[in-house]
Amino acid sequence: MIVIFGSINMDLIARVQRIARPGETVLSRRADSFFGGKGANQAVAAARVSRDGAVRVAMAGAIGNDPFGMACLKNLEENGVGVTAIRVTDEPTGCAFIAVDETGENAITVASGANMALRSADLPESLLSKASVLVLQMEVPIADNLEVAARARRAGVKVVWNFAPVPAVKERSAMAELLAVTDVLVVNEHEALAIADIVGEPSGDHYLKAGSAISRLFGPSCIVTAGSRGAYAIAPDGTQIHAMARAITPVDTTGAGDTFVGVLANGLAEGLETGRAMELACAAASLSCLTAGAQAGMPQREALELYLAQA
Ligand code: RIB
Ligand code: NA
Repeated sequence: MIVIFGSINMDLIARVQRIARPGETVLSRRADSFFGGKGANQAVAAARVSRDGAVRVAMAGAIGNDPFGMACLKNLEENGVGVTAIRVTDEPTGCAFIAVDETGENAITVASGANMALRSADLPESLLSKASVLVLQMEVPIADNLEVAARARRAGVKVVWNFAPVPAVKERSAMAELLAVTDVLVVNEHEALAIADIVGEPSGDHYLKAGSAISRLFGPSCIVTAGSRGAYAIAPDGTQIHAMARAITPVDTTGAGDTFVGVLANGLAEGLETGRAMELACAAASLSCLTAGAQAGMPQREALELYLAQA
């Protein structure tokens, strides 16, 4: 079983010709709402590719007592995600304001709301102990993420931690504390460089150098996603695995990283080799970019295997 401890948002997406600069106003024809939040996106991605439901997916999260929250809850249930550890709070449901430009690139502001009320205690030990993989991101309180990661390690549960967005810590020691309870770190190129900077290993624009330094110094294996260049896994001893991504013309890249993380987690929970799990994750992430919104383009397992077979 996979347990995801993380954020749940409603995404309000406006398509723009180009993303506004500070102080500027740009017009968009309309706003559309989509289900989002890194945690929820990763849970849905994992559940869709779970083979015959072999790997069950459950989520711990926090929503508001409002229409957005109820819709998000229903969406998770409809996607086969276990929701017993999702708590309704007095805060409003998280909301992400997303501008997507003509190339599919985005800029996101997250109004966290209920997500910041999520606590380690919301994930009962009885649920955590059933998991083989725990998945974390960085859109809920960092102290609770840390506590859940430590609990998972004690229970022998593998911690897959997506440091997105990059944690707002300044000290090397604080970053080291997070990395010490992480088995598999997943970051994009920018995040890898930012983390390396924080721990005092500036790597210029060499994201693989950054990933290697993080893995060598702090222990987790580090997976760096690199968009159209696929993804790289770097082990503490420097061993690298590369998974390719197919060329696509993206419509909306929102949630592509989350699709990668969810499908990767499912692969690891199924016991696949890291390289194979990454290959599936890259392909799923590519497919997710072909449809507007974070979750709509996430493939079911059959569609994913078919796409990979078409090579
Ligand atoms: O990673 C994409 C997600 O980040 C969006 O769905 C949005 O909700 C933000 O949390
Ligand atoms: Na998409």
